[in-house]
Amino acid sequence: MHSRAHATLTTARSEQIMRALGGGDAPKDARCTACHSPFQSLPAERLVSAPHAPTGVSCQNCHGAAESWLLAHTRTDYSHGDRVRAGMREMRLIYERANVCVACHQNVSEKLLAVGHPELIFELDGQTLAEPRHWIERRIYDGPKAWLVGQIVALREMVWKEQGDPSVTARFRQRRLALEWLLSPLAGIDDSLPEWSTTVGGLDAFARAVSILDWDDDLTADCFRRLARRHGEFLDRAVPQAQQARRAERLVLAIDRLAAATQSEEAKPAEASIKRLFAMAQSLPDFLPDVFARELEALAGRL
Ligand code: HEC
Ligand code: HEC
Ligand code: HEC
Repeated sequence: MHSRAHATLTTARSEQIMRALGGGDAPKDARCTACHSPFQSLPAERLVSAPHAPTGVSCQNCHGAAESWLLAHTRTDYSHGDRVRAGMREMRLIYERANVCVACHQNVSEKLLAVGHPELIFELDGQTLAEPRHWIERRIYDGPKAWLVGQIVALREMVWKEQGDPSVTARFRQRRLALEWLLSPLAGIDDSLPEWSTTVGGLDAFARAVSILDWDDDLTADCFRRLARRHGEFLDRAVPQAQQARRAERLVLAIDRLAAATQSEEAKPAEASIKRLFAMAQSLPDFLPDVFARELEALAGRL
């Protein structure tokens, strides 16, 4: 999908987006290539060799400039540490990886959203699994930990954007509030974690601390319970329907990732329930908080 990212800029949908922006050539426009084909926006003098065919999102956009590691990266006698010392960016650590992916996968300008660019939702666990793996994960990969670190990093980016960008809309604020709502009860899952704070620095410290936790099944189960227990909050009439719909959107993604990590037989009967929750959160305008609350309560009872 990353190699296709440049070609996406040549589709009818991209042309439509450009027309709505008042014109321009998407495959060459830095407003698009910044994420879809970063080398297109680089001045030629910053490239070691002459520009080649458009690469979409390429090796170097994730791994860092290849000058120092290009020759060595296929050596079979090299360890991960050797490659990092040769200049490849450290991405085995889930916090570092989250920082690389989130740069393109969470915040997109309000202007682009207004003219039909899809909304972006960063979710590190699901997106890591969706990306065909070209590496061997030698250490244990903890899905739920990757999920949680990714969500905190996503919130950090949203808070950062909201502080610095006066153009953010009510829709953006709703999405940020929904993610904050989702994560706040998870702050107490381990005594070693710092106090929960929704400043950029506080969230960054929190993400780092979660990323070095020794994750185990009890932590996954604890997160699951803390989230499923929140059905009552969907009955709160003081919270507007649109805000509840945004909460549900994030909550079903979370429940899905946590359930995927739970191998136990007990989790099986929950599958149908999770599917129904997903379906209910599909369309924001049609979202019915009461019905969702009942299904979530039933799920909590099954766990
Ligand atoms: C330089 C920007 C950039 C970086 C860095 C990046 N991506 Fe992407 N990614 C994109 C773009 C742009 C697309 C959309 C491709 C298309 O359909 O045109 C995409 C698509 C995807 C998709 C398929 C669509 C989806 O959301 O399911 C997955 C999965 C994905 N990226 C995972 C990752 C992961 C995991 C990382 C970090 C290891 C990462 N990406 C880093 C830009 C980036
Ligand atoms: C902040 C990074 C970013 C910028 C800037 C950006 N995109 Fe995207 N775009 C993405 C990602 C990531 C996806 C994949 C979303 C997904 O599938 O989850 C995407 C998806 C798309 C899609 C839908 C692709 C599909 O297969 O459904 C189109 C079309 C598109 N972008 C066009 C553009 C155009 C045109 C511009 C410039 C005006 C642009 N994008 C700017 C990150 C970006
Ligand atoms: C979307 C981001 C992304 C892109 C694009 C990408 N990689 Fe990776 N790559 C990763 C991640 C994440 C890992 C796993 C973490 C790690 O091992 O560093 C990885 C691992 C690797 C490793 C193993 C490193 C180790 O630990 O020893 C090599 C080698 C590698 N990639 C080479 C490439 C090459 C060559 C390309 C281009 C053809 C490429 N990657 C494109 C994200 C990416």
